[in-house]
Amino acid sequence: MPHTRNRIKIGRSFGDASESYDVCARLQRFTGKHMLPWLPEKKDLIVLDLGCGTGFFSELLATRYDQVLGADISFKMLDYAKKNRTGNINWTQADAFKLPYQTASIDVVYSNLMIQWCEPIDKALAEIMRVIKPGGIFVVSTLIDGTLHELKSSWAQVDDDKHVIDFHSEKELNAIFNSGSAKKINHFRKDIVLEYENVLHLATELKGLGANQVPKKLSKGLAGKDKWKKMSKNYQDFQEPSGIYPATYSVYSAVMIKLTS
Ligand SMILES: C[S@@+](CC[C@H](N)C(=O)[O-])C[C@H]1O[C@@H](n2cnc3c(N)ncnc32)[C@H](O)[C@@H]1O
Repeated sequence: MPHTRNRIKIGRSFGDASESYDVCARLQRFTGKHMLPWLPEKKDLIVLDLGCGTGFFSELLATRYDQVLGADISFKMLDYAKKNRTGNINWTQADAFKLPYQTASIDVVYSNLMIQWCEPIDKALAEIMRVIKPGGIFVVSTLIDGTLHELKSSWAQVDDDKHVIDFHSEKELNAIFNSGSAKKINHFRKDIVLEYENVLHLATELKGLGANQVPKKLSKGLAGKDKWKKMSKNYQDFQEPSGIYPATYSVYSAVMIKLTS
């Protein structure tokens, strides 16, 4: 039950960011495009964009495949996608843990930067593999530990609260993505360092993406002004000679095949 409540909050947080998301989504564009070469060339396939957000990649997939489904937990994200994207896309509100699709009905599930919000991840994976046809594929990108380490350590010197979500390690994901009916056939990892003018710029971007919901946070609401100031001061340790503030995103992408038995 707490997991379900967390997912509702995560969905709300993304929904509230639906209008600002696209201008902030520079990392998401990179990771989503990076997975495209793993997609099959065949046109007559059923492809699900899971956690489709504003539908940027659903629209792109619709130019390549006959049947594209866009699913997201957030109604507001889907509303935005419906109004702003073209192409023959079947939009559905759905939770990755309980997909409204028949078993073995989808050829390809494509999911860009959604699964790091799914805990426990192995349960979400089992549900995703359920809907994929034997021999079909799951193409996924996510974030692993090391992501936002600058922000995490700047906060750690201020209080014991959780300000950044937990990320799995590469080793953990390699094992999870090679379990049950999933067999990982390829994966890639890369640290991407984005540049910010200051810490507020980073916080504003995370909020603009809706990626500021931390389920296990102890204190509610915003951190106090003093705490925020201390954290910002600590972040200066990472400031580069050019004056920019870096934030690291450790990206992990993989392609899995669904085993036939
Ligand atoms: C970082 S955004 C990525 C959006 C899109 N894939 C893109 O490339 O821009 C993550 C999306 O996953 C959705 N999401 C989070 N948890 C989900 C869940 N359990 N089931 C379905 N969608 C979920 C959020 O609502 C949000 O739209």
